[in-house]
Amino acid sequence: MTESAPLLLARGVTKAFAGVTVLRDVDLDLHKGEIHALLGENGAGKSTFAKIVAGVHRPTRGKLSLNGRQVDISSPLVAQKLGVTLIHQEPISFPDLSVAENLVLGQGEQGWFSRVPWAEMTREARRQMDQLGVSIDVTKPMRGLSIADQQMVEIGRALASGSRLIIMDEPTAPLTPKEVDTLFGIVRRLRGEGRTIIFISHRLEEVRALCDRVTIFRDGSKVATDAIENLDDAEIIRLMIGRPLKEYMHKHNASIGEVALEVEGLTLPGRFQDVSFQVRRGEIVGLGGLVGAGRTDVACAIFGIQPAESGSLKVNGKTVDIRQPDDAIALGLAFVPEDRAVSGIFRTLSVEQNITAAIPGRIAPRGFIRRAIEKLLAADSVRKLRIRLASVNQPIGELSGGNQQKAILARWLLAEPGILILDEPTRGIDIGVKAEFYDIIGELAEQGRAILLISSELPELLALCDRILVMAEGRLTAEIPRAEATQEKVMQAAVPRQQAGIAA
Ligand SMILES: Nc1ncnc2c1ncn2[C@@H]1O[C@H](COP(=O)(O)OP(=O)(O)OP(=O)(O)O)[C@@H](O)[C@H]1O
Ligand SMILES: [Mg+2]
Repeated sequence: MTESAPLLLARGVTKAFAGVTVLRDVDLDLHKGEIHALLGENGAGKSTFAKIVAGVHRPTRGKLSLNGRQVDISSPLVAQKLGVTLIHQEPISFPDLSVAENLVLGQGEQGWFSRVPWAEMTREARRQMDQLGVSIDVTKPMRGLSIADQQMVEIGRALASGSRLIIMDEPTAPLTPKEVDTLFGIVRRLRGEGRTIIFISHRLEEVRALCDRVTIFRDGSKVATDAIENLDDAEIIRLMIGRPLKEYMHKHNASIGEVALEVEGLTLPGRFQDVSFQVRRGEIVGLGGLVGAGRTDVACAIFGIQPAESGSLKVNGKTVDIRQPDDAIALGLAFVPEDRAVSGIFRTLSVEQNITAAIPGRIAPRGFIRRAIEKLLAADSVRKLRIRLASVNQPIGELSGGNQQKAILARWLLAEPGILILDEPTRGIDIGVKAEFYDIIGELAEQGRAILLISSELPELLALCDRILVMAEGRLTAEIPRAEATQEKVMQAAVPRQQAGIAA
């Protein structure tokens, strides 16, 4: 770390939305050549701070200086000209254009790419990707790329436009462990070149592995900035949540009953083959594996989003034909998808309307009695899951990422499904609320519901599940009962065969 003047200096940065202050008097110095983590609970203000630095939001009050000069970062384009780039988690690129064209875009009219012939553009794009050490065919359209590769293109674009400060807001959530390694390698190299990186993540172990210093936000205020080695996990958590962490090793005590969901030989060519398993009432069955192993595809097939081509499904012992989500819902299934963007968030509707959207009519006959009950239930969920908001009448789109996720969870929990499929339900959810969430899942099982839990977080699978199924490359590779489940066993079954071969 250099001892020169800080790259970025924030003083008294404050942000209010419609009179509600969400970021309060933040002072922060970022050094050249450091990786700086922002930590905090859902809604603490991390993304808001990042967006202010990247010109997406204007601060209500406060000053920013870059390289000793006060700056007014009034738009993302201004930010880019000043050398500041925000890398989006799910990159916003132009899916039909090629990688090379995407690299050119966003470099502004003055970009050194303008009026460069196609061949040269391609060559240059290739050089950029080579420099990052990633092999991506730059002539291919963006849409075919994995999220990890799309991120690489965004990073390449940031570098091509000469970014000195690169902000990554939860970049690792959708990546496999291997992709995370690659990303970390690149981020470290960028640091070596003297660039500064802001890294936002809910995973403490990642922050520890990668970052030099951390800043912790709580309730919109900065509560600490320190070198990572000066803070142990307990201290970080205490600073983040301001109270002791609830123990989440809740062992549920459900009696396991009849088979609720039975999947037999489910196949969708190219996605998954011959997947068979059962989930019983009162049982929590984990579905582990790496991102891309086909777990989400199986869930989507069961729920009728993209039905399988062959195989059969039974619900409560009866063969069923689920062609669309409505069929599944009618059979008492619920599915909380991993991708918030497609998870049925009605962005312009209120939080309350979103939470109560799936409550079946049977809760109360009609009219205002039902509305009153819904209001109570929504308020109760907000409290239980600690959804941070200004008001339940606020549009859900205004909530922080993690709080939107919690609201969608609340919706499906209130629908009281007999069979609940959860896909990476705690991704993006802060450590302070995971325990509550695990307790809720445990309670649901105790009420006799059948739960299929897709998760890439091994401790989560091990803590919650009665059985863990593992998928790799579209196939089930293991079924591990609770008593025998270890991280190693799950990992071993999750690694694709060829890769395992190479490693051996
Ligand atoms: N456009 C907006 N309008 C109103 N309120 C907003 C808006 N954007 C963010 N907020 C509020 O600001 C607060 C901070 O949100 P922010 O997105 O910065 O949190 P975060 O720390 O990134 O949380 P997460 O870990 O969930 O991503 C939240 O309470 C959120 O509801
Ligand atoms: Mg955020």
